Order: sequence, then structure tokens, then C-alpha cells
Amino acid sequence: VPLHLPWIDAILDLKRRRGALIMAHSYQSPEIFHGVADVTGDSLALAQAAAECDSRLIVLCGVHFMAESAKILAPDKTVLIPDPEAGCSLASSITAEDVRALRARHPGLPVVSYVNTSAAVKAESDICCTSANAVQVVEAMAAEFGVDRVIFLPDRYLGAWVAQQTGIDLVLWQGQCEVHETFTAQQARHTREQFDAKIVAHPECPPEVLAEADFVGSTSAMGQWLEKTRPARVALITECSMADNLRNRFPQVEFIKPCNLCPHMKRITLPAIHACLRELKHEVHVPEAVAARARMALERMLAVGR
Ligand code: 13P
Ligand code: SF4
Repeated sequence: VPLHLPWIDAILDLKRRRGALIMAHSYQSPEIFHGVADVTGDSLALAQAAAECDSRLIVLCGVHFMAESAKILAPDKTVLIPDPEAGCSLASSITAEDVRALRARHPGLPVVSYVNTSAAVKAESDICCTSANAVQVVEAMAAEFGVDRVIFLPDRYLGAWVAQQTGIDLVLWQGQCEVHETFTAQQARHTREQFDAKIVAHPECPPEVLAEADFVGSTSAMGQWLEKTRPARVALITECSMADNLRNRFPQVEFIKPCNLCPHMKRITLPAIHACLRELKHEVHVPEAVAARARMALERMLAVGR
């Protein structure tokens, strides 16, 4: 951390002078998460904060779809992303054209899109969800449309988990997270047996990994579960920085790390944040025609809540 201090000081100074608000996702490195962020959390928390905050300038430390969601919900604010190339394998797995084709194949079924999608895909959707509220959103849509089938995209693993939780038949897209798909059930089992650790997994993991888990939830829900349960040892089956960022909050808990990095999240660095604030660069733009329709899907999700 001392290595990072000059960068952190310089960013905090620029942030003050610009009147900027820095938001950081749970997968950002600790020097960003603890060092410079004003708001931290899962993708739902960041979307809500963007909609509600007073600041005119938001720096979104996360991946591109998160910055787009912030811009869509706060269209009058300037939203910057420190590296516009920070993508997501789920978001790039599906296009707006694909969603239109799915609708044509399954007329009358509501379309629920995970927020890990482009603005153009959100614009073709009835509602968005995050891993924190996917179950509630799918149940709400099935009830509202009076149907027992729902189109859910693009994450087939999150979709399979939601289908299992709700008993609702989901039409799935074959997208997956390149980070979570690599965890295995054997790894989870070994970690539990070898370290006597509780297993907490993100629902983007394959079903056989989730079957080994003591708890499945979004990145924020993981923190809440630890708060409640306070196990002696835990393995968080998700991106590496999650455990790093929670360690301070739970000094009594030992974190065993089956560890995968998200290469997209890791494009965001202190020097990139500094350059972003200094040059006010990498502003996120969403054409209003797309933004207006995507906003409806996001706001409908926020009305369902967590
Ligand atoms: P959360 O909604 O849990 O923050 O997850 C977002 C994400 O990209 C997980 O890989
Ligand atoms: Fe996308 Fe997976 Fe990275 Fe999350 S961890 S941003 S789902 S690639």
C-alpha cells in the first residue's frame, strides 16, 4: 500500500477539485476500493447510487456496462470510465439483434436481461436484473405477464440457478462469465475438506460449484452473509479482490483464496483513474434513443428492489 500512497493522495486531491464522485465495484483492487472510492458495492448498489447521487461528475471504477448503466440512470451527469476497454464476456456474448430474434421465437414471453449487457441489449428488454435481485425480478415478471416461462439472458449459469430457485421455466442464452466458469466443484470440495472452510459462491459459477456452496449470492450479499455468520474460515468462489476487500471488515475470519482475476476489472488502475480525472477523459455516451428504452428496463428493476 505505501507504494500506492502518492497516487492515492494525488487522486483524492484531484477528486476534491473536480467535485467528482468515485464509485468502485467489489472487484476493484483494494487500493482503489479502500483508497479512493466514495461509493462501493455490487452492480445494483452502484446503479442505485448513480441514480441518487448529487455529484455532477462520476468516475466509475468497474467495467463498461456498469458505466453505461450509471449514465443511463443519470443522463445529466458526466460519467467517466478510467479504461473504456474494460469489457465483460457476458456483455459481449449477445447483441440487440439476438434479443429481437429470441422475442420472435418466443412471442409473448417477457425478456429479463442481466445488467451485464450493453445498453442496446437493455433497450430490447422488458426489465433488467442483477445477481442480487434476479429471483425477485423473474418472479415479478412471470406474475405480471401471467406466464410460466421467461426469457433470461445472457448468463446461462445465473439463469439455471434462478430457474432452480423459482421453479420458473427459463429460456436461456448460452453466455457465461470467463472468470466464474473456470471454478470447479472439485476445487470447492477440496477447499472445504482441507481447510474446514465455508463455501460462498457467486451465482455466475457453474451449477455443480453452486451445489457445493453454503451460500450463493451477489458480491454485496456475500458481505452481509459474513456479517451474520462470521465463520472461522471461508472461501469466496469469485473474483480475487472480493476477499482482499472484505478482509479489513472481518479480521476474525480467515479467507482461503481459490483465486481468479477478472482481466477487465483489472484494467482499472490508480494511474488510469488519475489520468481520467486530470484530462476528464473517456466519457461514456449512450445515444438518447437507446438510453430512453434501456432506462425503462433499469428503472423497472429498481422498482422491484433488492
Ligand atoms: P455483482 O452484481 O454481484 O456485483 O456482480 C457483477 C459481476 O460482474 C460479477 O462478475
Ligand atoms: Fe464480466 Fe465476469 Fe468480469 Fe464480472 S467477473 S465483469 S461477469 S467477465
